[in-house]
Amino acid sequence: MQADSVSAVRQAFVVHPTQEVSGEVQVPGDKSISHRTALLSALAEGTSTARGFLPGDDCLATVTALRALGVELEAQDGDLRVRGVGLDGLQASGRPLDLGNSGTGMRLLAGLLASQPFASELTGDESLRKRPMERVAKPLRAMGAGVETRSGTAPIRIVGRYPLQAVDYALPVASAQLKSALLLAGLRARGRTVIRSPGRSRDHTERLLRSMGVTVESRLNEVVSVRAPERLEPIDTVIPGDFSSAAFLMVAGLLAAPRGLLIRNVGVNPTRSGLLGIVEAMGGRVETRSRKILGGEPVADLWVTKSDLRGIEVPPAWVPLAIDEFPILFIAAACARGRTVIRGAGELRYKESDRLGVMADGLRRLGIDVVENTDGLVIEGGDLHGGRLDSQGDHRIAMAFAIAAAAARERIEILGTDQVSTSFPDFERIAAGCGIAIETTTVGKYA
Ligand code: S3P
Repeated sequence: MQADSVSAVRQAFVVHPTQEVSGEVQVPGDKSISHRTALLSALAEGTSTARGFLPGDDCLATVTALRALGVELEAQDGDLRVRGVGLDGLQASGRPLDLGNSGTGMRLLAGLLASQPFASELTGDESLRKRPMERVAKPLRAMGAGVETRSGTAPIRIVGRYPLQAVDYALPVASAQLKSALLLAGLRARGRTVIRSPGRSRDHTERLLRSMGVTVESRLNEVVSVRAPERLEPIDTVIPGDFSSAAFLMVAGLLAAPRGLLIRNVGVNPTRSGLLGIVEAMGGRVETRSRKILGGEPVADLWVTKSDLRGIEVPPAWVPLAIDEFPILFIAAACARGRTVIRGAGELRYKESDRLGVMADGLRRLGIDVVENTDGLVIEGGDLHGGRLDSQGDHRIAMAFAIAAAAARERIEILGTDQVSTSFPDFERIAAGCGIAIETTTVGKYA
């Protein structure tokens, strides 16, 4: 083998079967809310502060992009401080804005930059440059911005226009990223911007805009509209723990915590926490305790105990409410009694990887029977063996298979775990704190 056939050295996890998961843990701040807090605070008139900001690579890429647009931000130890420049205070960046692995950062910034009277270019890593961007480009063009993609993907070139013209737009998919991009564009459009979705999706942007003094109308979360406000008020807020990160530990608890596991301070916004309903229907025991509202978002502690899970048919309407939790749900399904059927989840093919294909492949390597359909999987619960698999650089797939070791017979090796820090920077340490021993190693990838 030639030396130059080693195309990259990648991080890998080796995870041994876990005897028991227990204790008390806290997960880092919510990724979706962290992005939105940085972006909207940048547009406020005055200084905003937030505690619980996620210092993951994705959110830090958004912070770096905002700095390049002339905004002063400090993000340290979970504290974010942003000196807002007002709705028309952004300045052109002299260079392309690199959003790394972050689809949220790229799509929301596209919405924000569409109304700026200057040109911008948005790019990202290899995975992000494969993801569909026409879905955001098309409505922004309809609002009057010049938006060019490269065969439908990033880099995206935007020639902004102010004011934009409001549109009444029906989204092709129930996507919070698209909805949020259009809400951001609508902040600087003439008329009322109306966004219609084929289903509910996370409503963090709407909540945050309201807490900054903007009137956002919303019917059943499916028709949302906004008019250009005069200004955005600065905020002083607290960002809850990320439900999507807590989901990994929650499933670990369902598989291996006979004495219980407590996950503190988790955002349980109903447009985000669909996994709670799904695991409950599977027979999973998760109690939400100490409910409260923090920074305009519902928050609770989750008390999880080992449960006998059974397979179910997941109603397609629940899919957008649990969209990021499918990799870990597939692990729960693999450990459940009977068959789990997931349909209406074709969007999973356009995430950081093709999550249906990559998860089906990994589960089969661990001895599970899986049928892969265009828009979902059928998983027969069974015994998880050990094995070696590749996350294809997808953070949530890497973490899902690490948790699978809580129920596996032998060790599981997961290649390509570098991206875990995009959403859950302390994953290995926090998992170790509740009994899941993850060794981190490096491997060469041969072309
Ligand atoms: C997100 C929305 C979802 C989700 C992503 C974060 C957001 O994407 O998968 O991880 O912060 O708005 P879609 O809107 O494309 O479904």
